[in-house]
Amino acid sequence: MTQNDPTPNNESTEIKVFDIPTRMFHWAFAISIVMAFSIGKFADDDSPIYPFHMFFGAMAITAVLFRIVWGIIGTKYARFSAFNLNPFALPAYLKSAFDKNAPSSAKRNPASSIAAIAMMIFGIMIPLSGFKMLTAATREQGHQFHEIHETFATLIILIALVHIAGVIVYKVVKGENLGLAMLTGNKKAAAGETGISNIAPVAGVLLLTLLGGSAFALASNYNAQAGTVNVFGKTLQVAENEKGEGEEGDEAEEAGEKGERGESKAEEARERGEKGSNEAEEAREHEGKSAASNAVVIDTLSGPVTLDSKNTKAYKESEAEEREERERGEKDERNEKKSK
Ligand code: HEM
Repeated sequence: MTQNDPTPNNESTEIKVFDIPTRMFHWAFAISIVMAFSIGKFADDDSPIYPFHMFFGAMAITAVLFRIVWGIIGTKYARFSAFNLNPFALPAYLKSAFDKNAPSSAKRNPASSIAAIAMMIFGIMIPLSGFKMLTAATREQGHQFHEIHETFATLIILIALVHIAGVIVYKVVKGENLGLAMLTGNKKAAAGETGISNIAPVAGVLLLTLLGGSAFALASNYNAQAGTVNVFGKTLQVAENEKGEGEEGDEAEEAGEKGERGESKAEEARERGEKGSNEAEEAREHEGKSAASNAVVIDTLSGPVTLDSKNTKAYKESEAEEREERERGEKDERNEKKSK
């Protein structure tokens, strides 16, 4: 028997627990997390699916922001006030989860409540750290946000795996399919527990609209050729720049430019006579080193996320600093010679 009304239930039977927006949030969030993680971890950043890494991250944060509001104004079991966040209740709950005779309950249990809140927090922190990583002011900061981004991503996947293991254990021990409960909204309840009367379809439509709206906003601000997307007035490099056919192309171009600059400097030195060839040698060596160090930057930062972007502030800054330093050195040298 399934009750869709709030009248008390007097036997261990199923009642409506999860409303439409909670179920929709669950599956939108689960899919976004799995997709963002898989693309970030396994896809190459020149792959055509790479931009979807950020896309799914944006879906996850949109879903969580909605869920936070729904946790305050939503139906009985969706509210955060219904969550059991007492860690001391965990041992007793885990014991009952392995006891097939322990009565089922519609109430939120401490294991899933704590895991849910942790996953929601990470669902916000991961996209935010990704955003900060791509807009970091310095290379050092970029590295720090990269570390945070990866650590949180690993943690959310670990929690999700334990969460899924819990659902499987529940099914094996008690024969109750909680996965199905997250689809139908119905869950076995203890005597006296009441279901929800309103499954809130309008809020479900609102969540869909928000998810669709943010997907549309991202898609319309995406520049496929440059691999960039504009978010809150910032240009984020979320995929490789097609024009340069990736970093190797850009690097070669840059190294070429630098080589040319080195050559003309060598030319100048030769004209000036003394120590000319030495300086030219030095200049070439220096240029070679700069190009190599850029390559290291790219290599070190490349990974499941596009921190290695040449358009990140951190990258641009380090390059500008290097150029400034070189130009200052050249000027000093010339002045020194003149004064001699
Ligand atoms: C990466 C994958 C997953 C993530 C990130 C995830 C995340 C979550 C979150 C955040 C909640 C809290 C939902 C809310 O109250 O709004 C939740 C609850 C739940 N999830 Fe998942 N989930 C994942 C996969 C699964 C799978 C594969 C199943 C089942 C086949 C499942 C079954 C459930 C159930 C039954 C609940 C409700 C638990 C309760 O009674 O409180 N989840 N999940």
